[in-house]
Amino acid sequence: MGNKKIKKIGVLTSGGDAPGMNAAIRAVVRTGAYYGVEVCGVMRGYNGLINGEINPMSPRDVSEILQRGGTCLMTARCLEFKTKEGVERACEIARVYGLDGLVVIGGDGSFRGAKDLSNAGVPTIAMPGTIDNDISCSEYTIGYDTCLNTVKEAIDKLRDTTSSHERCSVIEVMGRAAGYIALEAGIACGADVVLLPEKKYDFDSDVLRPILEAKSRGKKHAIIVVAEGIGGVIEMAKKIEAATGIESRATILGHVQRGGSPTVRDRVTASRMGARCVELLLEGKANRIVCMQNGAIADVDINEGLEMKKELPKDLVELVDKLTV
Ligand code: ADP
Ligand code: F6P
Repeated sequence: MGNKKIKKIGVLTSGGDAPGMNAAIRAVVRTGAYYGVEVCGVMRGYNGLINGEINPMSPRDVSEILQRGGTCLMTARCLEFKTKEGVERACEIARVYGLDGLVVIGGDGSFRGAKDLSNAGVPTIAMPGTIDNDISCSEYTIGYDTCLNTVKEAIDKLRDTTSSHERCSVIEVMGRAAGYIALEAGIACGADVVLLPEKKYDFDSDVLRPILEAKSRGKKHAIIVVAEGIGGVIEMAKKIEAATGIESRATILGHVQRGGSPTVRDRVTASRMGARCVELLLEGKANRIVCMQNGAIADVDINEGLEMKKELPKDLVELVDKLTV
């Protein structure tokens, strides 16, 4: 490997943080060092590029971060970067700092920024870091597995109190407009009802009926998992209580889902993807997303990746129906 033009690169995290981002940063820094490339950490997403918050990172600077949630480079949403002037300023700063390439770890909003940077002359490679698992070109996004495990622990605990009080728990999980977290957490936690933004539902037949049928069989508690894209869990709990007579409570799991020490899956996938990002830059590539396809690390053009569509796995959606019968 050896593109003589790439001597110094930057790495940044952008959008919502996700467990495993630190493992990815570490992989970028250490893979860079392995190939003799200097790596600089860009602070606070695209803000750091615009403001020149850019610091060299040695392999030792990324010691002890692999096991930590969050991101040591901080993350942010940067509105200025969405403007032409913002991108031009970021490019100028990249030139001033001598960055020959950039690795962006984030979600699809961050990928659009990466595309703009590549088009403006800074070779950029992106990789998916988001708990939502909603990046179309990738079967997997860093942080998803850790998030699912956090949700599993929380719902298991809620089940203890829900069943003891013979109540109904209506639980909102994150995922923005996507239902991946709700779908897999619903299966893993044995939810009685799972509501996904990708699937229309009818309150009477899809929510009330299963609860009432279970009640008639003698089951006195229920776990309802609702994706953030559906929302309205407080109202829904009230409606369920009024219609069924089962005391109901709503819980919004919220940002706890974004924290915690990354699982093995997230650490390993983040490390593989981070390393691949550096190698692509060294191969002279730009404007690509490192992703997972058929279980292997792959890469696609950012424009193509952003246009791809991803659907919830049909077999898992059907499995929910089978298991909640
Ligand atoms: P995520 O990357 O998790 O999807 P956001 O959508 O908030 O998170 O995007 C993160 C950052 O990426 C934004 O604050 C902005 O700086 C940049 N960004 C988002 N959308 C665009 C866009 N359409 N064009 C350029 N940059 C964008
Ligand atoms: O994209 C990750 C995510 O946690 C989504 O699941 C959620 O909709 C959003 O970010 C929350 O964003 P914020 O941290 O800005 O409230």
